[in-house]
Amino acid sequence: MILEQIATGGCQSYLVGCSETSAAALIDPEISQIDHYLALAARGGLRIRYLIDTHTHADHFSATQQLARQLAVPVVMYRASPAPFVDMRIGDGEMVVLGRLRLQVIHTPGHTSDSMCLQVEDHLFTGDTLLIGATGRTDLPSGDAEALYDSLFNRILRLDPALKVYPAHDYNGRTHSTIGQEIAENPRLKTHDRAAFVEMMHNLNLTMPTHITEALRINMSGGKAVAQLLAEAAARVPFMSLEELKERVDAMDDDLIVLDVREREAYEGGHIPRALLLPRGQLELRVNKELPDPTRRVLACCELGYISTLAASTLREMGFLYAVALDGGMKAWREAGYPVKVGREP
Ligand SMILES: [Fe+2]
Repeated sequence: MILEQIATGGCQSYLVGCSETSAAALIDPEISQIDHYLALAARGGLRIRYLIDTHTHADHFSATQQLARQLAVPVVMYRASPAPFVDMRIGDGEMVVLGRLRLQVIHTPGHTSDSMCLQVEDHLFTGDTLLIGATGRTDLPSGDAEALYDSLFNRILRLDPALKVYPAHDYNGRTHSTIGQEIAENPRLKTHDRAAFVEMMHNLNLTMPTHITEALRINMSGGKAVAQLLAEAAARVPFMSLEELKERVDAMDDDLIVLDVREREAYEGGHIPRALLLPRGQLELRVNKELPDPTRRVLACCELGYISTLAASTLREMGFLYAVALDGGMKAWREAGYPVKVGREP
């Protein structure tokens, strides 16, 4: 068995491969690491066959849906997962066959109702059911402290104490532990009393994870993160540097249309000389009138450089062949001391 552990902040993903057949599965992939996973698989001579989420994540953006499209392989989740993009719904006691490896599913509700652990040889991928020195929280959607008690004390902790525990999170840089070690040292497992355990879980008073609504929106419904929309737009458009634009503005370059996509108030407060005003919210509605020639070079700019990237991407989609975005925004332009014109459009 081949194992690669990839940490993203506190999130842990795993690339598990069969050394005989080179078939691999990716467990709990995170969206910012897609290239990293693919590079690791390629370097190890592995072919990713399955994308598995141990549960609906509330704290990071799952990469399973995007990778499934890219690699044309199925997304595997527990059968009760709400995500509409799951290809293979799997139940307790069932297995994913990965070459010579068998990934055994143990349904462990508690952190979420769709949580599962995966046992592969002497490894147990515990998702957020059992962490090193902690457990998953039970105060997020579909969490249930009573169910977590049963999943831990009546299932996971009864497994072989030598089993190695690989959790979906660790914030202290540890890679793994064992069932035996957790029974001996994990403070949340000290009390075997159900009521006391539930009481403790209800009183953890944890802060909400950042991006929780966005993460749940994406992981439960298959939508896109704002960062992903921006990255996709950025991959479709060329950029022009502030310095290059400054030279062209100084040279009164008539070949270039500078399109300021901020709101009127921001534009009138100070814009690039000769820039046209066309707020992003009106782009599609007014583009035919304001930019009649789709073969002109149009440079979109905004305050910080994000909205202009989306605008340039939209312009390209609409057939403006030479639309580009400013690498930076008006904030950086002003900070560089470049010329600014105050007032209405020319
Ligand atoms: Fe989680």
